[in-house]
Amino acid sequence: MAEQTKDQNTEDLIDPISEMPGFDQTESRIAIHGHPIHAMSVAFPVALTFCVLGADAIYWWTGDVFWARAALWAAGTGFLFGMLAGVSGTAELLLVPGIRARAPAWTHFIIAVTLLALLGANWGYRLFGYEDAVLPYGILLSGLCVLVVSFTGWHGGKLVFDYQLGTSKGN
Ligand code: HEM
Repeated sequence: MAEQTKDQNTEDLIDPISEMPGFDQTESRIAIHGHPIHAMSVAFPVALTFCVLGADAIYWWTGDVFWARAALWAAGTGFLFGMLAGVSGTAELLLVPGIRARAPAWTHFIIAVTLLALLGANWGYRLFGYEDAVLPYGILLSGLCVLVVSFTGWHGGKLVFDYQLGTSKGN
């Protein structure tokens, strides 16, 4: 009897977030012919972040200044492409009611902004002498950026695959 009352009470509980207007509207608005721009653009900063660490490691191994310069360019382009990805992601977050209403979307925003700050620092630090910057702090920053970009990308994937945010309803 007590068990039955407990079940009934649980069924009566309603998540207030799911009552918000537009909760079910989760389709991407920042898209070209239904293809979300954020999903298309994140590949560039993710790949370039890994390239910086790779170039730093090869510079450490070989001492060839070419790789320190490659790391500088990868850090700069990674940061700028990251900012572009951030603009499309932020527009999506603010304009789509079902995305805006969900806490995990805001968690992703906070992790991503932390990443952008680290990518900017990794680039800016190298502008004052890209060769001297690599060891030890440049490569340490690059390692931290790889950890944070991996977490950001994994979490973004959860938004799409677990919560179906930014996907098409297929109608
Ligand atoms: C700074 C603000 C950002 C916001 C507000 C944001 C928001 C979002 C949202 C709402 C989604 C769900 C899919 C969609 O609606 O398009 C998403 C997916 C994703 N985000 Fe972000 N994002 C930001 C930055 C970034 C950055 C800088 C990266 C990585 C460099 C990133 C990586 C991803 C990935 C990998 C996905 C999954 C894409 C897929 O599998 O299709 N995001 N993001």
